Amino acid sequence: MSRFAGKVAIVTGSSSGIGQAIAVRLGSEGAAVVVDFLNHPDAAAETKAKIEAAGGKAITLHADVGKLEDVQNLVEQAWTQFGGCDILVNNAGVEKNAPFWEASEADYDLVMNTNLKGAFFLTQRFVQKLMEAKKPGRVVNISSVHEDMVFPNFASYCAAKGGMRMLMRDLAMELGPYGITVNNVAPGAISTPINAKLLNNPTQLKALLNNIPLGRMGTSDEVASLVAFLASDEAAYVTGSTYVMDGGLMRNYKEQ
Ligand code: BGC
Repeated sequence: MSRFAGKVAIVTGSSSGIGQAIAVRLGSEGAAVVVDFLNHPDAAAETKAKIEAAGGKAITLHADVGKLEDVQNLVEQAWTQFGGCDILVNNAGVEKNAPFWEASEADYDLVMNTNLKGAFFLTQRFVQKLMEAKKPGRVVNISSVHEDMVFPNFASYCAAKGGMRMLMRDLAMELGPYGITVNNVAPGAISTPINAKLLNNPTQLKALLNNIPLGRMGTSDEVASLVAFLASDEAAYVTGSTYVMDGGLMRNYKEQ
């Protein structure tokens, strides 16, 4: 299936986890992909190799999504190297675990800059270029169930993801008239490096799984399938919504 033939996509944080699966999915379905990474060029090269093995095209680029010039460069490179940019997946994300009263300014800045400021200004540049070229586009943000659900000890993460929810709703309204759709995917517990500590702690893992009606964690490939749908022409009439993929976690309630 070549749902993305002739399309160009930027996927932030695509050197690992959910971002890598999304980049590979879009690339293997025909998109030319800008694989963005912060710290791990080797892992980004692995994403690129997987895309190429599936017959697709990719470049790797370093960017700290919290920095304006870096996100602007991602969009410029997509246009110079691939001739445009139709799909933006704001995936790069970090979380910091601390009781609220101990959270540091440095951790707060890292979480907000990566998860929210990055999505804000990268989307801004992505949209400016589409408007100049009078072209439609797709924005898919990788949010979290925690755009809506509490997560004690992760207040900055919840604030960033809650902000991403309202950013998406607002932009869907502002950008709809330009043919640009904006949606969020809200994964629950997915096995990725962000969850490494949890995955290595059997007691914590058992407690988490006990909250998930489907009884297991999700996979990055499952998240990538939903993102690919939202990024495709099939989702032309979808904008302003969050799509939850969490095995039922958000709807869970137990008396004991
Ligand atoms: C977080 C994970 C957490 C999951 C479910 C995700 O957004 O990154 O650490 O396990 O939500 O609570």
